[in-house]
Amino acid sequence: MTDNKETQTRLIHAPRNAPQYIQTIQPPLFRASTIIFKTTTHLFDRHWSDPYDYSYGTHGTPTTYTLGDQLAQLEGGTYCLLAPSGLSAINLVNSTFLSHGDEVWVPDNIYGPNMEHLRNLQQRYGISVKVYDALDVSSFTPSVKAKLLWLEAAGSVTLEFPDLKNLVKKAQQANVLTALDNTWGAGLAFNAFDFSDEHLSVDLTVHALTKYPSGGGDILMGSVISRDQTLHHQLFKMHATQGICVSGDDTAQIIRSLPHMRLRYQQQAQNAQEILTWLKQQPEFMQVLHPADASSPGHCYWKETCLEGQSAGLLSVIFDPKYDLAAIRRFCDGLKLFKLGFSWGGPVSLVMLYDLKPMRVLPNTHLQQGLLVRFCVGLESAQDLIQDIQNALQQIEK
Ligand SMILES: Cc1ncc(COP(=O)(O)O)c(C=O)c1O
Repeated sequence: MTDNKETQTRLIHAPRNAPQYIQTIQPPLFRASTIIFKTTTHLFDRHWSDPYDYSYGTHGTPTTYTLGDQLAQLEGGTYCLLAPSGLSAINLVNSTFLSHGDEVWVPDNIYGPNMEHLRNLQQRYGISVKVYDALDVSSFTPSVKAKLLWLEAAGSVTLEFPDLKNLVKKAQQANVLTALDNTWGAGLAFNAFDFSDEHLSVDLTVHALTKYPSGGGDILMGSVISRDQTLHHQLFKMHATQGICVSGDDTAQIIRSLPHMRLRYQQQAQNAQEILTWLKQQPEFMQVLHPADASSPGHCYWKETCLEGQSAGLLSVIFDPKYDLAAIRRFCDGLKLFKLGFSWGGPVSLVMLYDLKPMRVLPNTHLQQGLLVRFCVGLESAQDLIQDIQNALQQIEK
């Protein structure tokens, strides 16, 4: 075969536009680092603040903007930025709005890696990290240096539901920006941009799309949603200058999963409620934590905030303190359907064990003493999952 250089050029420059008349269920996928400008006029006339003035892959493509628009609509916001994980979306908020000498407030049950990131900022940039009790608004006492209040509903691992309305009201009075980790609610359980009689709203939501929007346990992504253009532009500049971006393929997978997210969310929540009823009757557990349960901390706030009793598929149990770590490990190892692993929102049920003592700063008067196990309920049959827990409990007494 001869080396045909013309064929090589033709291969590269062959027309590749999809025919206009074709329609598909899923939108076309754009993978791009380079985006081609039609002319130098297009190159020079674009404006950084116009999201649809495509200029380079890191700033977005029609694929990433399709997902961003869908998520903003889902959560009740206006603008959305995507990040390569939920944690990087959290970090985008922290690095955009916190600077030297500022004060940031976090609930005691904050997602652990957010706290670690903030402690890191505290050491390096003199940012003061203050911890409040998610169930006690009076423990949030912002000083004039306070810039940001983190909220999480329900809280990580122990699932207390905070008094969102009063926390946001107090933050607004003190001119403090509010950011809600909305991963649990997923834009389905409540509207974070309007959850009150007087249209109370957080300023920003962060969502680990890794969980329910992905739904497969196989994709990492995060989002930051806002309504205010000035806040969005501040985030947008940090996002662009840090080179924060996501892959077109991963984005397309999430676009594909979003239409059935509500069905999955509701099924997992229903499974969790069924398991909750059974768990509450078992003598091994001192406390069962799930915001929809009347005895769970913050239940009254869950009731006033969440739509039609909506809750996610997470629940935690605190074991009787007579069971030591070895016993709890035997229980977790004895589970067959629940797999031992971090994260949630996928089809497979997951379990994780925690010792709360090193994870909390404030005294937890509403929590029993004992080791905690969190169940992230998947899409298996609830009865099979109950049987799995029942079988594993037989390992605990050995
Ligand atoms: C409440 C919450 N927020 C944020 C994250 C971070 O998401 P990612 O795993 O995509 O970094 C997690 C992950 O477990 C989470 O549970």
